[in-house]
Amino acid sequence: MSSDSEPRLRVIWTDPVTGRKGYAVIDRMVNGLAGGGTRMRSGVTMEEVERLARTMSYKNGAFNLPGGGAKGGVDIDPHDPEARGVLSRYVRAMRPLYRNGWGTAEDLGISQELLSEVFAEQGVGMTVQAMLDRSGDPMAAGRRVSQGLAINVEGIGLADCIGGYGVAEAAAAAADYKRWDISKLRAVVQGFGSMGGSSARYLARLGARVVGVVDVNGAVTNPDGLDVERLLKSRNTLGEIDRSALRPGDGELPKERWLEIDADIVVPAAVADAITAENSAAIKARMVVEAANIPTTDDAQRLLHERGTVVIPDYVANGGANAWWWWTLLGVLEADAEQSFAHVSRVMRETVRHMLELADARHMTPRAAANELSMENLDRLAARLGEDASETPLEPVRA
Ligand SMILES: NC(=O)c1ccc[n+]([C@@H]2O[C@H](COP(=O)([O-])OP(=O)(O)OC[C@H]3O[C@@H](n4cnc5c(N)ncnc54)[C@H](O)[C@@H]3O)[C@@H](O)[C@H]2O)c1
Repeated sequence: MSSDSEPRLRVIWTDPVTGRKGYAVIDRMVNGLAGGGTRMRSGVTMEEVERLARTMSYKNGAFNLPGGGAKGGVDIDPHDPEARGVLSRYVRAMRPLYRNGWGTAEDLGISQELLSEVFAEQGVGMTVQAMLDRSGDPMAAGRRVSQGLAINVEGIGLADCIGGYGVAEAAAAAADYKRWDISKLRAVVQGFGSMGGSSARYLARLGARVVGVVDVNGAVTNPDGLDVERLLKSRNTLGEIDRSALRPGDGELPKERWLEIDADIVVPAAVADAITAENSAAIKARMVVEAANIPTTDDAQRLLHERGTVVIPDYVANGGANAWWWWTLLGVLEADAEQSFAHVSRVMRETVRHMLELADARHMTPRAAANELSMENLDRLAARLGEDASETPLEPVRA
C-alpha cells in the first residue's frame, strides 16, 4: 500500500436528535478485519479520523497484527450532558461496521467502561466482537478479553495501564540505544488519562523524574519530581487531576505553557497536533515519545529531527495498548498482568531498537524507518491472509 492511497471506506453520520456529526474511516482491511479506537471530542473532523485510521494501519503492521486500521470520531465534548446519548446512537448506526470487521476500543474522551456499556445496550456484543467472531472460538476469546479487562493493577485497569507501560518501555529502549541512563532523565507528560496517567506511572517506576503532568485544566509541575501515584488517585474518569491533591512545592502553569517545563523526555499523551513548528522551538528534550496519536505535526517532526531530538512515532510508542487487545483475543496472552507486561516489554524494546538501527543505517527519521518496517509486515500479512474475510479462523501471528 502506498502512503497516499485512499481509505477503504469513509462514513459521515448525523445524529437525528442533536444534529451532531460522527465519522468512521476504514483505512485498510487485512483478513477482513480493521482495528482502531472510537473517540469523542468537540471539533473532531473527518480529516482527523482519516489520519488516525491510517495511523492504526501502521500500528497493526508495526506489531505484526493481522488487521488493517480504522477509527471512529464523535463530534461532541465528553462533558456535554448529551454526549452519552449521542455516542449510543452513533454506535447503533455503526453496528453493521462494528459487527462485520471493525473492532474498536476506548480512545480520547471515552473510557472502555462506557464504550462496553453502550455496545452492550445496542446489542453489538463486545467492542472487539468483529475479531471474536473470526477467532474460531468466540466464547474462549471473549472470556480472555473480559477477564483481561477485569484485571486491576494498583488501582488502574490493565487495559488502561498497558499502553502507558509500553510508552515507558519505548522511552527506556530509546535511552538504552542512545546509552542514556533513564533514571537520570526528567519527563513531562501532556494528558493524564488512560495513556498519560500510565505513561507517567511507569516512567516514574523506571526511575525517571516526572517534573510535569498536564490535563485539560492546566499543568502541574515540580522540578524535584511529582508524586505521580498521589495525582493518579485524585483523577476523575476523564483524567482530570483534583488540585487539592497537590503537595507543597508543586506548582501550576496554564496548559499552553507545558513545553516550557524543562525536561529530557516529552510525552504528548492528549490531543492531535499538540507539538507544532512554532511551539517545538521551546523543546530542549532529548526525546519526544508520542503516546497520543498524531500529536506532532510533520513540520515539527522534521525540525526536531534536525535538532537531534529523537522522536519515537505514535504508533510504535503507544502500540502496546492495541497489541495487548489483539494478543489477548488471539490467545498469545492469557488474562494475566505479569505475562502481559513481560510480552509488551520484550516486543516494544525489540521494535524500537530495530527501528532506530534502520533509521541510523539509512540516515532517515525513526518514523520513516518504522513506516517501512510496518508496511512490509502488513503487506506480507495481506498477501498471506487476503484483504477480505475468509472462512479461516484467525491464527496468532508471531510478534
Ligand atoms: N486509551 C488508549 O488505549 C489509547 C491507545 C493508544 C493511543 N491513544 C491515544 O492517546 C491519546 C489520549 O487518549 P486517552 O485514552 O488517554 O484519553 P483520555 O480521555 O483518557 O485522557 C485525555 C487526557 O488529556 C487531557 N487533555 C484533553 N485535552 C487537553 C489539552 N488540550 N491539553 C492538555 N491536556 C488535555 C485530559 O484532561 C485527560 O487528562 C489520544 O490521542 C488517543 O488516540 C489512546
